[in-house]
Amino acid sequence: MLNFQFYNPTRIIFGKETVSELSQQLPAQAKVLILYGGESAVKNGTIDEVKKALGEREYFEFGGIEPNPHYETLLKAVALVKQHQIDFLLAVGGGSVIDGTKFVSLATCYEGDPWEILSRKKVPVTALPIGTVLTLPATGSEMNCRGVVTRAETKEKLSFRTPLVYPQFSILDPTKTYTLPERQLANGIVDSFMHTLEQYLTYPIDAKVPDYFAEGVLRTLIEIAPDVLSQPDNYEARANFMWAATVALNGFLATGVPEDWTTHRIGHELTALYGIDHARTLAIILPALLEVKKEAKRGKLLQYAKRVWDITEGSDEQKVDLAIQKTCEFFESVGIKTHFSDYGLGREVIEPILQQMEKHGQINLGEHQDITLSTSRQILEKAL
Ligand code: NZQ
Ligand code: ZN
Repeated sequence: MLNFQFYNPTRIIFGKETVSELSQQLPAQAKVLILYGGESAVKNGTIDEVKKALGEREYFEFGGIEPNPHYETLLKAVALVKQHQIDFLLAVGGGSVIDGTKFVSLATCYEGDPWEILSRKKVPVTALPIGTVLTLPATGSEMNCRGVVTRAETKEKLSFRTPLVYPQFSILDPTKTYTLPERQLANGIVDSFMHTLEQYLTYPIDAKVPDYFAEGVLRTLIEIAPDVLSQPDNYEARANFMWAATVALNGFLATGVPEDWTTHRIGHELTALYGIDHARTLAIILPALLEVKKEAKRGKLLQYAKRVWDITEGSDEQKVDLAIQKTCEFFESVGIKTHFSDYGLGREVIEPILQQMEKHGQINLGEHQDITLSTSRQILEKAL
């Protein structure tokens, strides 16, 4: 096992009708900004429920945070926070709203040009406190210290990571997912599956706790996916989905193990350039990455084949191939396609993606930092 530190201060409040708990979590004198996305949280009544739970506290609202939250939009929220001296940010939504809120919390307190937070020129030192009410299980943002923001003007999608943005609390009420469309449910299943895989499919290091945990999350997602997709009000399926997605990226699965975030790094460029949903970019890249890095990942792929897909027959090579095939079939079974051609894209994507990767320093990826631009080119070729 590798050395590690584990720190996660986010309080999780999980279960039916837990939005009312907000009142206990917020300071009595808090001046709150409620941040949300398009219409979903207003239409399904969550915003009204939140306002009620705030009681007598003074609050303001900022709606319209788009999927893949835009830097330009978030700066408007920063101006509002400064104008009214707001001191607590409450995100109501999915990963985009939560990530956007994290950025607002950093940018409000940042002295220089907020773009430096994303270009990583300087490290922020303070942030406003945030809480979340999660409506879409997928990213784990509700219990981690990461965020991803897109600058629409330059088509750049960049991430940040700092312990300053761990939410103080996150309310996870599985009934809030009942209104999710199939497309977002499928995205959430694949995104959380991928978060787990990127902390798992590297090389064996005898880290039994995170390995068995990761396999449990993967098996859970495979088992519940059909019910999550076909039964909108199946509470148990939605509850298991919600917790699996949170655990997949709250830092626990990364304890003591190497990680390989190549699929996400390439995927972000794809979303920025071509507007493909985050999870879909991952489903395009991962199978190709596994083909290209099959030898280096053989040990973990065999473990994955056996413990996640129950593959026990055949040669090692056949087991690995079958595990990759089953992964693709799983993605396709939830309605997510796995090749560029399925999205009307072809060879023309390769150069622009590689250029952006070079610009953003994505040139030594993978658990051995050996995924250079030329390996990424091979991966992109295979994904066509
Ligand atoms: O905008 P509204 O109208 O609210 O609709 C949203 C949005 O269109 C809708 N939605 C959310 N909850 C709903 C609902 N519709 C009906 N009922 C509900 N209960 O879903 C749409 C997509 O929402 P979004 O927040 O964009 O989805 P997701 O949670 O998948 O977040 C994706 C973003 O998170 C980033 C991605 O890159 C992307 O920008 N990620 C963040 C990570 C992190 N912070 O750790 C890690 C991830 O790998 C990922 O990169
Ligand atoms: Zn993701």
